[in-house]
Amino acid sequence: MSREEWGFLEGRWLPWPVPWHDYFGRSAPLLVEIGFGNGQFLLDLAARREEANIVGVEISQPSLRSAQRKVSSQQRKNVLLVHALAGQALWTLCAPQSLSGVFINFPDPWPKASHRSRRLIDQPFLSLLAARLHPQAMLDIATDDAQYALEIARHLASHQSFDSRLPTPYVHEDNTRLRTKYESLARAQGRLCYYFKWRRNKTPGESHYPPPRELAMPHLILSSAPHLSAVARAFEPATHSGEWGTVRFIGMFEARDYESLLVDTFIDEIALTQRLGLTIRARGEDALIIGVHELGFPRATPAVHHAIHCLASDLIQRHPYMQILSSNIKL
Ligand SMILES: C[S@@+](CC[C@H](N)C(=O)[O-])C[C@H]1O[C@@H](n2cnc3c(N)ncnc32)[C@H](O)[C@@H]1O
Repeated sequence: MSREEWGFLEGRWLPWPVPWHDYFGRSAPLLVEIGFGNGQFLLDLAARREEANIVGVEISQPSLRSAQRKVSSQQRKNVLLVHALAGQALWTLCAPQSLSGVFINFPDPWPKASHRSRRLIDQPFLSLLAARLHPQAMLDIATDDAQYALEIARHLASHQSFDSRLPTPYVHEDNTRLRTKYESLARAQGRLCYYFKWRRNKTPGESHYPPPRELAMPHLILSSAPHLSAVARAFEPATHSGEWGTVRFIGMFEARDYESLLVDTFIDEIALTQRLGLTIRARGEDALIIGVHELGFPRATPAVHHAIHCLASDLIQRHPYMQILSSNIKL
């Protein structure tokens, strides 16, 4: 099957980090566009930079499908599209210092004050970018939101790992690049655009953000356990945090015909979030085994190991006579 027939790549299924040279079938500078929308800019970049391998990262599936059709019809061999959130793609899929350039065109501005925290570009995101770009690599950002532009300028200026390639933090005209859909819309509506052309300098950021380690699927066995129905009755939602991340146990579901409970769990670590099910099953007369349900392609990160441990601790707190019999958990 040819690459065109594969369609886009699902970020959750890819190895950490991705050996991009193997995926492209050649070793070449790696460029990333984040939030490529209809893919026009990405395709133009691919045509102008034939010597580069180009990865487009996008969270919207309709955008991915429409851009993938363009990639296939133009038979672009130097572009791969990935369904992923930006932070997740940078942290898990890209090796440290592996990128020669990142483009972010018209990121969602989230103009309402109560939504500002959803903006993509902030200090932690720039630190993650700094860890993935190699020294001298380019960072190009464009926006038509004046308030967001000032925020981006402030974040870039205060970050030790970036310098502007221009004498000013941004310019209002850039005729060297293809206009994106949002850019054309902004101009048609008379909004000023802000173009940032920065460079990763030689000063390292505070963290190298090593890509997450993938561990064995965790499990833990508790002895002297009550019946599952008693465990279900005593369940309460809970949140646990540590320097490894945050785990929230949201709810518990009891299987009707099967000796099993499913704990709806949200896990947030560095730049990766996972919503997964932890299972509690009876083992023999009075033991319970806690594990991870295979639904949804969970990845066994350190925070998933912590989640199993936290769930066991919560259960022991409610049923203090229980004891951990064995586990393969790495904390
Ligand atoms: C305002 S549109 C801009 C699209 C295109 N770059 C342009 O200029 O026409 C923002 C795009 O970013 C995508 N997006 C938003 N947040 C994202 C994230 N965290 N990771 C990846 N893509 C994201 C959206 O799906 C959308 O396609």
